[in-house]
Amino acid sequence: MPLTNRPNRSTLTQFLIEERRRFPSASGDFNALILDVALACKAIARAVAFGELGGVMGNHAAEEGGSVNVQGETQKKLDVLSNDVFIRRTEWAGNLAGMASEEMDLPYQIPGQYPRGKYLIVFDPLDGSSNIDVNVSVGSIFSILRAPQEVIDSGRDVVDADFFQPGAQQLAAGYALYGPTTMLVLTVGDGVNAFTLDPTLGEFMLTHPKLMIPQDTHEFAINASNSRFWEAPVKRYVDECLAGSTGPRDKDFNMRWIASMVAEAHRILMRGGVFLYPRDNKDPAKPGRLRLLYEANPIGMIMEQAGGRASTGEKPMLGVQPTSLHQRIGLVFGSKNEVDRIERYHAEPVKVELKNPLFAERSLFRD
Ligand code: AHG
Ligand code: MN
Ligand code: MN
Repeated sequence: MPLTNRPNRSTLTQFLIEERRRFPSASGDFNALILDVALACKAIARAVAFGELGGVMGNHAAEEGGSVNVQGETQKKLDVLSNDVFIRRTEWAGNLAGMASEEMDLPYQIPGQYPRGKYLIVFDPLDGSSNIDVNVSVGSIFSILRAPQEVIDSGRDVVDADFFQPGAQQLAAGYALYGPTTMLVLTVGDGVNAFTLDPTLGEFMLTHPKLMIPQDTHEFAINASNSRFWEAPVKRYVDECLAGSTGPRDKDFNMRWIASMVAEAHRILMRGGVFLYPRDNKDPAKPGRLRLLYEANPIGMIMEQAGGRASTGEKPMLGVQPTSLHQRIGLVFGSKNEVDRIERYHAEPVKVELKNPLFAERSLFRD
């Protein structure tokens, strides 16, 4: 299509200004923060796109400040770079009271030379970073909260507990996906809108307004290598999907696993599906793999805002009261009817498979 005939789409800036008109008293700080986050995502997209040419592949060298983060996970160079980009692009403007990130043990304090603001940001600067070196989609996830009033009034340093707000209190959440195209998916509590980066203009353009997730699906995503550690309701759910049209679900299912949660979330947002990284008994010290504050809650808000659901497996994710900055949690999200079903299986008493040795095993009663 010739350039002049292309639809005149909204830019992210135009979209935010039009949204803000609904709140005549809004200061504009919130929009400024979102635009700074969007710029951080563009900078990360550029670093990701240059790949090996940019010299940013591989693990973060120990001599440059260590290579294992607070989660005990090996940091990639791009994890560290992305964390730094998020900080530098958002700390200066006077919109933030503090930050927290997957890659930082403690909350980040806004340096003294900058004014402090009324928002908190929590982020996973690069999700799915084990996929970097194999050129598979990764992304950044963020959640914006209001700082406690007493923090705003006093301007004091933030502490972990300032971030312990249930997901339902998020003011905005979003992610950027660095895939074949770079996209920014955003909710400010009024539905979910997705923007595609025009790489020549350097602008996010509104390409997917008001996204809604189909309520039903025949596609599920789970890391089946953990199946021996799953709890009974998860086993039951997956077994029923695998049984397909020969089982109680009466339809065949397809399966996907990218090992990049943000990419799975995007697929589900686009065409439905269900994702499970449930609590399991692999490691009693880790109640789940993914993190509540910067993975489960922002993705949960996006799912709910698009008519889908997010759950711990037992209860709605957005109602969970956080108790630590890097806490892990079981996460199930996607098409509403599937998440409802998984919660129902958790609520139902476990059916114990009766194996009566007399009738089942002994040769006396068997052929
Ligand atoms: P991160 O790269 O931020 O540490 O997160 C990786 C997460 C998530 O994106 C993905 O779904 C999951 O780890 C994959 O875990 P497995 O390797 O256990 O499948
Ligand atoms: Mn992650
Ligand atoms: Mn990460």
